[in-house]
Amino acid sequence: MPDTAPASPLRTALAQAAAEIDTALELLLPPAEGPEAPLLAAMRYAAIGGGKRLRGFLVLEGARQFGVSRQAALRVAAAIEMLHAYSLVHDDLPAMDDDDLRRGKPTLHRAFDEATAIIAGDALQAQAFAVLADEDTHADPAVRVELVRCLARAAGARGMCGGQMLDMLAEAATEPLDEAHVGRLQLLKTGRLIEFSAEAGAVLGKAPAPQRHALAAYGRDIGAAFQIADDLLDATASADETGKRTGKDAAAGKATLLGILGLERARMQAERLVEQAVGHLDSFGDRAALLRGLATYTIERKS
Ligand code: IPE
Ligand code: IPE
Ligand code: MG
Ligand code: MG
Ligand code: MG
Repeated sequence: MPDTAPASPLRTALAQAAAEIDTALELLLPPAEGPEAPLLAAMRYAAIGGGKRLRGFLVLEGARQFGVSRQAALRVAAAIEMLHAYSLVHDDLPAMDDDDLRRGKPTLHRAFDEATAIIAGDALQAQAFAVLADEDTHADPAVRVELVRCLARAAGARGMCGGQMLDMLAEAATEPLDEAHVGRLQLLKTGRLIEFSAEAGAVLGKAPAPQRHALAAYGRDIGAAFQIADDLLDATASADETGKRTGKDAAAGKATLLGILGLERARMQAERLVEQAVGHLDSFGDRAALLRGLATYTIERKS
């Protein structure tokens, strides 16, 4: 996607993190060999070489606040990006959003087939948990269990999957959802994984509870802002800019805050959430400068 924005410390750091996360994914996803080669090729197609890597970047930056080793943080960053990739693969299926373009290339079920896309999504999810549970991620088993527990909660019925269910139910509903209901839908489908991403570095670093909670609250707020921005991009940006089809949500009857509040008020709400997110970082000092910048980036991004 063309991106003509000038380089900034945040953009440089995001690009660097994306490259490191790709390298980690290359190593943590098996090569496409042997009888299951088509499945492994599909997993790699969906997970490697694309995406903003915002969730992985949050893990890396959160971990940096507590002096966690880059190698451990990169494993967790790769794990959340595997889980996120799975959520996108299933989100794009004909039974859900029925999309043919993702990250500037054909969606997985278009490039392969539906059955392969379903199975590859399942296997990406399993591999994410396998990586978290591995000794190389942290020497302390209690930390590994905590990461697994938190990601399972963020991904499951009261997390991303629950939000996807509410999204599908809303599409079929005859009455439009109210603002509180849409807020919950977005908190679950997008907010929970972003909250996990922001909190994971604190878990790895065995951070004191107040700091861990502050990062989680920051993640929840930018997660909410991030989904508003995604909905705004669907309404206002092109497929060339975003790497996915746009202009589909309203026609599909998607429940969005944009639909309820309109463009201007939805934008203002996203800005308020970003301010609130940054407020949660007050106790972190200069080290959190990139996290502060990232909050604004979530709503100013063009893709
Ligand atoms: C898209 O997420 C799905 C949403 C939760 C809005 P991203 O916009 O982070 O997608 P990638 O990873 O950059 O492709
Ligand atoms: C999807 O939200 C969120 C997920 C849990 C994958 P969208 O359906 O709006 O995401 P895009 O626009 O397809 O990336
Ligand atoms: Mg969707
Ligand atoms: Mg979608
Ligand atoms: Mg969208």
